[in-house]
Amino acid sequence: MKAIVLNEFGGVDQLVITDVPKPTVKEDEVLIKVIAISINPVDVKTRAGKGIAGRLRDNRPLIIGWDISGTITELGEQVTDFKIGDDVFGMVNFPGHGKAYAEYVAAPASQLAVKPATVSHQEAAAATLAALTAYQAFMHKAPVQPGQRLLIHAAAGGVGHFAVQLAKHLGAYVIGTSSAANKEFVLSLGADEHIDYTTERFEEAVSDIDLVLDLVGGQNIVRSLEVIKSGGTLISIPTGISDELAAQAKANDVTAFFFLVQSNGVDMQQIATLLDQGALKSHVSQTYSFDNMEKAHLQQETGKTKGKLVITLD
Ligand SMILES: NC(=O)c1ccc[n+]([C@@H]2O[C@H](COP(=O)([O-])OP(=O)(O)OC[C@H]3O[C@@H](n4cnc5c(N)ncnc54)[C@H](OP(=O)(O)O)[C@@H]3O)[C@@H](O)[C@H]2O)c1
Repeated sequence: MKAIVLNEFGGVDQLVITDVPKPTVKEDEVLIKVIAISINPVDVKTRAGKGIAGRLRDNRPLIIGWDISGTITELGEQVTDFKIGDDVFGMVNFPGHGKAYAEYVAAPASQLAVKPATVSHQEAAAATLAALTAYQAFMHKAPVQPGQRLLIHAAAGGVGHFAVQLAKHLGAYVIGTSSAANKEFVLSLGADEHIDYTTERFEEAVSDIDLVLDLVGGQNIVRSLEVIKSGGTLISIPTGISDELAAQAKANDVTAFFFLVQSNGVDMQQIATLLDQGALKSHVSQTYSFDNMEKAHLQQETGKTKGKLVITLD
């Protein structure tokens, strides 16, 4: 089968289409013929030797990518929840060796959900790592309550566009940040208010926030502390919390933390239900063919992607 192998960490020229053996399934795994793959910032960071590169350094051949949707072609002996021919989607083995940039992927059945018939493989692939991050943040890490005031930074991006929809579904009041070009998009996702970060300082525009989901990092995290009320929460998604920030958060009576999304089939099934109900919708801004992975990485690297980028395999 064809896979995109990363020979060395580096630029997009390191993503090389290569013939490799089809994976064999372990007892608890299924083999999936991949129809769509979604791309994330962690793909490009890891390709460049950052992201989760440290965890993958010794794997050869190294095949990055985690988000897939496709059809089951083989079942491991212990798998009872799925059958051959099922269309499934999920985030495979994150944070580990996902091997998703391939025509076939072996995935633990416990990390997958059946793809609702109402969504395409492209939309399903898009609703994996990014959707799980929003889901795990708002359902497990800092459960969102109706009426809470949420500030979601980078609301137009991969995680942000799911986070806005999920927060609204949970009954929160949502303020989303993006550039002016994505204002209508953010409002169309259900946000109650929009802040254009290029012309406004959000800390001058909002206050009394219960929960900030920061998807930008750097000074944005520090500045976010200013708008959170006592007893509120700051979730930093791109980077960890420095000791200095932790001390400031404590002084402000704010709970501040970083978390890393984890593969989880139970959460994927909940996402499948939300997609099927129309409570969550993937926005796929661009699709690419498998041999155009380079272009998808270059677009993802701009930091200006609206919604998600998806690779389609025929
Ligand atoms: N910890 C974890 O488990 C985890 C999971 C998922 C993602 N992440 C990390 O979280 C970050 C976001 O991921 P993502 O997939 O959502 O990224 P993304 O899709 O690449 O985000 C792109 C969006 O960011 C917006 N943006 C850029 N600068 C901004 C700013 N200063 N203020 C507000 N919006 C801004 C852009 O909007 P405009 O074009 O309008 O500027 C664009 O729509 C990445 O660093 C990623 O690696 C971590």
